[in-house]
Amino acid sequence: MNYEFIIVEPQFQTYVALIRLNRPKELNALNLQLMLELKNALVSLDENENVRCIIITGNEQAFAAGADIKQMESKSAIDLLKIDQFETWDQIRKTKKPIIAAVCGFALGGGCELAMTCDMIVAGESAKFGQPEIKIGVMPGAGGTQRLTRAIGKALAMEMVLTGKFISAYEALKSGLINRVVPDDVYLDEALKLANEISQMSPVSVRLAKESVLRAFESGLQEGLYFERKNFYMCFASEDQKEGMKAFVEKRKPDFKGK
Ligand code: HXC
Repeated sequence: MNYEFIIVEPQFQTYVALIRLNRPKELNALNLQLMLELKNALVSLDENENVRCIIITGNEQAFAAGADIKQMESKSAIDLLKIDQFETWDQIRKTKKPIIAAVCGFALGGGCELAMTCDMIVAGESAKFGQPEIKIGVMPGAGGTQRLTRAIGKALAMEMVLTGKFISAYEALKSGLINRVVPDDVYLDEALKLANEISQMSPVSVRLAKESVLRAFESGLQEGLYFERKNFYMCFASEDQKEGMKAFVEKRKPDFKGK
């Protein structure tokens, strides 16, 4: 398959596939096509018997700096409802094989949400995690309010979501968001080590065990996600969303009016 915004290596190593998000100039901002490509790649790797574990990575500067603000800026709530991009996100979540996010640099907004949709996160020391949507007049829409809160608890999640502050790789480790932190030059090797270890196990029990851990994590999550989604769409009914995203594109501070 030909992809424009990702690079896929089904046999990066024996039994381990690698997907690299590849919009480096835009800090791997997740536009709709990239997400569709990612979903298609995961469906295809899930069917590939030579793949037992999948790594998703970006580059040293960014795993992903969020959903593509320039693509979203002019959208209305109803446009988003019709596009229904979260169908793609739901499909990614349904991947049966384990996915490891290998994160270096920025993992923000949708980027942080994508890393959290993966099963484990290995980070380089420079990784920064955050949900800064509040600064552009919206809120997380791809699981941020739900998965982050379940992973790190209400206090820190609330602070991150309401202020947009980033946390470092070590803070993310301490708060239980990620599995391990290593120097930047070996973050992918470390993810690979973990993938290799999992690939030695029975693919059947790995699949069933992954399903079971997710079930424990997600009871009640769907309800939370749908609730979050409606509120995310609702943000696009506000003037503040237009102002926040316009200000980002124009590289100035937003002037929010509460309308
Ligand atoms: C579109 C983006 C982008 C984004 C960065 N870029 N993030 N474009 N969408 N999310 C672009 C910039 O416009 C710029 O392009 C180029 O990438 C480099 O970014 P800079 O801002 O110049 O880099 P820097 O000064 O190092 O700042 C890095 C940064 C900042 C702190 C990560 O880019 C930033 O704040 N980005 C936005 C983060 C964010 O708000 N994410 C949440 C998005 S909403 P040009 O062409 O100008 O040089 C979201 C909702 C998800 O994710 C829910 C639905 C799926």
